[in-house]
Amino acid sequence: MHAALPHPIPYQGSKRRLAARIAQHFPRSIRTLYDPFAGSAAITLYAAKHGLARRFMIGDSLPAMIELWRGIVERPHETAERYRILWSQQHGDADHYGRVRARYNIGHDPLDLLYLICRCVKNAVRFNTRGEFTQSADQRRMGMHPDRMRNAIEAASSLLRDRVELRCGDWLETCADASARDFVYLDPPYLGTSTGRDKRYHAQLTREALLDGLAQLRTRGVPFALSYDGATGTKKYGPPLPAHLQLAHLLLDAGRSAQATLNGRNERTIESLYLSPDNRRLYESCTSLPQKPRGDRQDSRHRARVSCARPARGRTRRST
Ligand SMILES: C[S@@+](CC[C@H](N)C(=O)[O-])C[C@H]1O[C@@H](n2cnc3c(N)ncnc32)[C@H](O)[C@@H]1O
Repeated sequence: MHAALPHPIPYQGSKRRLAARIAQHFPRSIRTLYDPFAGSAAITLYAAKHGLARRFMIGDSLPAMIELWRGIVERPHETAERYRILWSQQHGDADHYGRVRARYNIGHDPLDLLYLICRCVKNAVRFNTRGEFTQSADQRRMGMHPDRMRNAIEAASSLLRDRVELRCGDWLETCADASARDFVYLDPPYLGTSTGRDKRYHAQLTREALLDGLAQLRTRGVPFALSYDGATGTKKYGPPLPAHLQLAHLLLDAGRSAQATLNGRNERTIESLYLSPDNRRLYESCTSLPQKPRGDRQDSRHRARVSCARPARGRTRRST
């Protein structure tokens, strides 16, 4: 399903694998799709490839990530070539990764960030409290091959060029001019996965700040979908969002947990998707779910579930 989707930034936490199942709940004919926690922008790329929106807004609070996107979209050949050089320099140089990491932590060059993301353990970025990139190199893999990277960069650029705006900053600032004709896809760092000494992302978001921002979007009538919290095996991330926001809550089976598999456990990851009631497709979702999406291997314990706070037509369906 996602095979042909360009994915130049192999970011842990990317929604690439879930993009089709998330986007099926988006409204039709979106004017601008806002992706203010973009990271690898998997949802934007999916939506661009499938003609779901006319324009796109990519935002992230990590400045080097936004500059990386600028290079990918506006200067694809130069960006691919610089990656090729960085990647090639690692051969026969055991200290290359460490030097690039030290250099990134001083200069924040977006190409250094791309190389580090590609080459670090499990593509899992980690930052310390000073905002320094701390993740080690994966000793078994060299990172994405430059030919593959070039293809991904060029394909992403041709999908987004001339119809994307890039904004660096907090998600609410990125969404400041979003209106009822637009659509916002939110994928903030999850509670419980982004805290601790070496954080998963360079910044965290408190639950209070998130809830406050969601309430603002609801007041402005801006439709949105939010990926937030989930569970792997018996480990759960974050309590459900408050009922007063009137969000529909879907549970998506994200497949086997790679981390649990590495640790010898066979566990599946379940991800929440919340939909605002302004989203017309929401109620179509409610009357058609639960269903087994194509290619989805769900068992009876992990079937997609939905609960709607206020269905517009038909009755609320809630599966077990
Ligand atoms: C879960 S990742 C998003 C992954 C993305 N959906 C993808 O497909 O790759 C969260 C992203 O939000 C960014 N971020 C963290 N706090 C933020 C904030 N307050 N405003 C905007 N972006 C933020 C992080 O830098 C990170 O790239």
